[in-house]
Amino acid sequence: MKVLVHIDDAEQWRDALAERLPEAEVITSSAPAAQRREADYLAVWKPPEGLLREPAALKGIVNLGAGVDALLNNPGLPEGVPIVKLRDAGMAELIGDYVRYGILHFQRDFDRYRRQQHAREWREHALVEKSNWPVGVLGLGAIGAKVAAMVAADGFPVHGWSRSPKSLAGITCHHGDAGLDDLLERVKSLVLLLPDTPATRQIIDARALARLPEGASLINPGRGTLIDEAALLTALGPGDDPASVGRLRGAILDAFPEEPLPEASPLWAHPRVWITPHMAGPTPLGEALDQVAAALRAFEAGEAQETVDPDAGY
Ligand code: GLV
Repeated sequence: MKVLVHIDDAEQWRDALAERLPEAEVITSSAPAAQRREADYLAVWKPPEGLLREPAALKGIVNLGAGVDALLNNPGLPEGVPIVKLRDAGMAELIGDYVRYGILHFQRDFDRYRRQQHAREWREHALVEKSNWPVGVLGLGAIGAKVAAMVAADGFPVHGWSRSPKSLAGITCHHGDAGLDDLLERVKSLVLLLPDTPATRQIIDARALARLPEGASLINPGRGTLIDEAALLTALGPGDDPASVGRLRGAILDAFPEEPLPEASPLWAHPRVWITPHMAGPTPLGEALDQVAAALRAFEAGEAQETVDPDAGY
């Protein structure tokens, strides 16, 4: 089989994949066009439109990330070619750490102490116990479920939400529209780990934000499209003095509808927004490559494997 790899650091991925799959010929997108045309499989992250159209007889695609939104929205994506995506692959634990940091940031008042530091103000806030700090996790796929379990293991009550019913040990699971409203009303920190699909776009709108308790916080290591940004800014309120603080205490954001986040975005300068450059869950090469190799072998052997449902968007 011939596999074409496209991602930043493609040479490193190519060499490591070739080691795992000695039966395959692995090339990168900088190989000559004649070779690219012969590729049986693509292993790609955010490929250019033209590259997806090049192979003459493509048998399968492996998405080198967990979210398939960029691939499914690519106009060059050939119809009917099965897609396999990475599932967790070591990303979930890294995202879990990001989320735990975010929750503690608010639960232990680091945001308030930072502001007080600027004013040289020595004043301790009463501790809100973890048991009184319910956390909501929207999205209970491979990543959301693991992150929810990590947060629960830390001692926070965790509410999880998915579109269809799920049951996870130690997590209070909600589903459907009514379940979402129910969850939003309870949580002090809300974590977004849903895929970007037509059904989830701007799921966090003015209505959803208004349901959160006063002083709730938002942590988004998922997708920027999940949030209505204008509604978020309104919920935060314009500034940092008590008179201009809205119902939302703060937001830690790792993903944005347009990345890099445009320089003109008002989020950059907001005093209660923390911005990170889509770094919450980098893909550790090792586990990811094991999954890629297994997926390619399964394709070649015609074995059943879990593929992406393009209509559902994940
Ligand atoms: C990263 O955002 C991914 O979807 O893997």
